[in-house]
Amino acid sequence: MKTKLSVNINKIATLRNARGGNNPDVLKVAKDCELFGADGITVHPRPDERHIRRADVPALQAILRTEFNIEGCPTKEFMDLVLRVRPSQVTLVPDKPEQLTSNSGWDTEKEQDFLCDVLNDLRAASIRSSIFIDASPRMAEFAAKAGADRVELYTEPYALNYARNREAAIEPFLQTAIRVKQLGIGLNAGHDLSLENLKYFTDVITWVDEVSIGHALVCDALYLGLENTIKAYQECLIKK
Ligand code: PXP
Repeated sequence: MKTKLSVNINKIATLRNARGGNNPDVLKVAKDCELFGADGITVHPRPDERHIRRADVPALQAILRTEFNIEGCPTKEFMDLVLRVRPSQVTLVPDKPEQLTSNSGWDTEKEQDFLCDVLNDLRAASIRSSIFIDASPRMAEFAAKAGADRVELYTEPYALNYARNREAAIEPFLQTAIRVKQLGIGLNAGHDLSLENLKYFTDVITWVDEVSIGHALVCDALYLGLENTIKAYQECLIKK
C-alpha cells in the first residue's frame, strides 16, 4: 500500500487571515490539492483561530472528497467541533493554546485515562483516531492500550538530524515503527517532512499509512507551484 499524502492547509489560512479577506480561498486551495493528487487534507484549528477558523472546518467537510484529518488538543471545544463534523480521522495533539506549533508527543502512559475517554468518544462517532507521539516504542504501546487506531510519529527530530546522519536520525523512528506494526495499529508521520527528507523516511519505514505535510510543502509551492509540488511529494512516496 502506498503511503498517503495529506496536505496540511494551515499556512494557506494564515496567508488569508493576514489581510482579512478571502484571498487565498482556503476551500478552493483544498479542492485544488485534491485535484492535483493529494490523498487528504489536514487542518489544525487552534483556539485563537490564527490560521484555520472553526467555521472553516464544517465548510471543508462539506466539499472534500478525500480523507479529512483534523488535528488538535482535545479540549471540550475541539471535541464538540470534531464530533459535529465527523471527519475521517482526528489526530490528538498535546499542544497548548499559545504554542507556535506542536513540539512534542503525548505521554500516553501518564495520560492513559484521559486518552481512553477521548478515544471512546471518537470510536462511538466512528471517527478513526491517531495519537501524536515521540519516537518511543513505550509511548506506542500505551497509545495502543488506550485504544488508538493509529499513532502519528512526531518527525521533527528526524528532520533536524537528517542532513548530518540520516541512518542515525531514522533509527528511533524505525524501532518505534516496528513496535507499532507488532501492536497491529496504523502508522502516520508528520512535522518538518520535506522534499529532502521524505523519500528516505518512507523507503526505510515502508508501512507508513499517511504523512501530513504543511510548512515545507507550502514553501515549495512558492517556487514550483502547487500542482508540481504535490506531484513532487507524491513522487517521493512511490515505492519502486
Ligand atoms: N502533524 C502535526 C500533529 C502537526 O501539528 C503539524 C503542524 O501543524 C504537522 C503534522 C505538519 O507539520 P509541518 O507543517 O512541519 O509539515
